[in-house]
Amino acid sequence: MTLNLIEREHEAILQTYGRLPVEIDYASGCYIYDVEGNEYLDLLGGIAVNVLGHSNSEIVQAITEQSGKYLHVSNFFYQKPQVELAEMLKYISGYDKVFFSNSGAESTEGALKFARKWGSINNKKKVIAFTGGFHGRTYGALSLMEGENYKNGMGPFIDDVDILEFNSIKDLQTKIDENTAAVFIEFIQGSGGLTVADPEWVTKITELQEKFNFLIIADEVQSGLGRTGKFFSFEHFDVKPDIVTIAKGLGGGIPIGAILLNEKSANLLGPGQHGTTFGGNALACATGLVVLKKLNDGLQTDINRISAYLKKKLQELILKYPERIKTYKGLGLMCGLEFYFPAKPIVLELLNRKIITNSTSNTVLRLVPPYIIDNNMIDRLVSELDSILSEL
Ligand SMILES: Cc1ncc(COP(=O)(O)O)c(C=O)c1O
Repeated sequence: MTLNLIEREHEAILQTYGRLPVEIDYASGCYIYDVEGNEYLDLLGGIAVNVLGHSNSEIVQAITEQSGKYLHVSNFFYQKPQVELAEMLKYISGYDKVFFSNSGAESTEGALKFARKWGSINNKKKVIAFTGGFHGRTYGALSLMEGENYKNGMGPFIDDVDILEFNSIKDLQTKIDENTAAVFIEFIQGSGGLTVADPEWVTKITELQEKFNFLIIADEVQSGLGRTGKFFSFEHFDVKPDIVTIAKGLGGGIPIGAILLNEKSANLLGPGQHGTTFGGNALACATGLVVLKKLNDGLQTDINRISAYLKKKLQELILKYPERIKTYKGLGLMCGLEFYFPAKPIVLELLNRKIITNSTSNTVLRLVPPYIIDNNMIDRLVSELDSILSEL
C-alpha cells in the first residue's frame, strides 16, 4: 500500500508540530501553492521569517552567486559575507560587535552566557525574565519561560532565574536588586498574545539598571528587522539594551541568528569561549545582506505605510463586531486581533478560504506577513474575516 505524504510524515517524523493540512508545492511573493494547485495568501510568512516574500529574486541571486563561490569553510577562516553582514548590522543598529548563531534559541543561549559571565565578574547571580515571554526551546531559553506545555517533565532547568509578571512595576520593585545580573525582555511578545510593554514599566527597568548595574537583553528574534515599524521594537521605548538577539527575518528564509553587543558586553567572552560550526555561514550571510540592504533602501517606509493601513482596516472591523473582537494587538506588521473566544477556529476557517494566519495565546489571531503585502491583500483578509464573523 502506498502512503500519501501526510501518512509518510507521521511514520517518519517525530510528532512535535501541529501542522496545517497543506502539502506545499512552491511559493512566490506572498503566495504559497499546494500540490493540488490551490493558491494561499501567506500572512504568516514562515512565522515572521520570509520578510521579502517567497523566492525573492535578489535572495535567489545572492544564493546562486555565493554557492558558486563556496558554501561553508568554517570559522577558522576570514569570510567576506560574514564581515559585510556584521558591518551592516553595526551600521544600522549602532551596536559594537556581532556574534553569529543559527537560530533564535541559539541567540538566547549565547546571550545567557554573556549574562552569567557579567554576573560572575560583578558578583551577581540572578537572571530575570517575564511571563508571556518566548525565547526558544533549548534549556537556557526554556528556563526563562513559564509554560507547562513547553517544560512539563523536562526539569530541572537552570538555577537563579526569576520569572516576573510582564508589565508589573510592583514585581520589578520587589524582585530586582543588586544580585540581578541581567533582565531578558521581549518588548512585544510574539507568542504571548502580541502584548506590548508599557512605557512606564520599561522606564522603571532603566531606572533600576542605573541603580543596580545589570544587563538589559532584548529578544528581537520575532520583532526585530523592521517588523514593528522601527528596526528594533525596543526603539519604541526610551531604552538602549546592552545585548540584542535576532534571527528569523535576518536570513529571509535561510537559517541565521545573531547577538549584538554594546561596549559594556562586547568583551565578556574571549577566544574559545563561544562558537558554533555553522554560525555566520556564507550563504546565510549573503542573504542577510540582501535583507538589510532592502530595509535600508526604503522598505522600512513601505512597512510603516502598509501596517498603518492594516491597523485601520482591523480597527474598522472591531467597530463592526465589538461583541466578538476585544481589541487590536501588537505593532506594525506584528499585529492581530484578540477575540472573546478561541482564535484557532478563525485560523482554520481562513485557511479554508485560502488565507494563512496563526493563533497565539488562545484568543489572539496573529499576523506576521512578509513586508511586501499590499492593500488588496489586506482588503481580502478583512473581507473574509468580516464574512466569518458575520456568520458566527
Ligand atoms: C521572540 C522569540 N525568541 C526566540 C525564538 C526562538 O527562535 P528559534 O525558533 O529560531 O529557535 C522565537 C521563535 O519563535 C521567538 O519568537
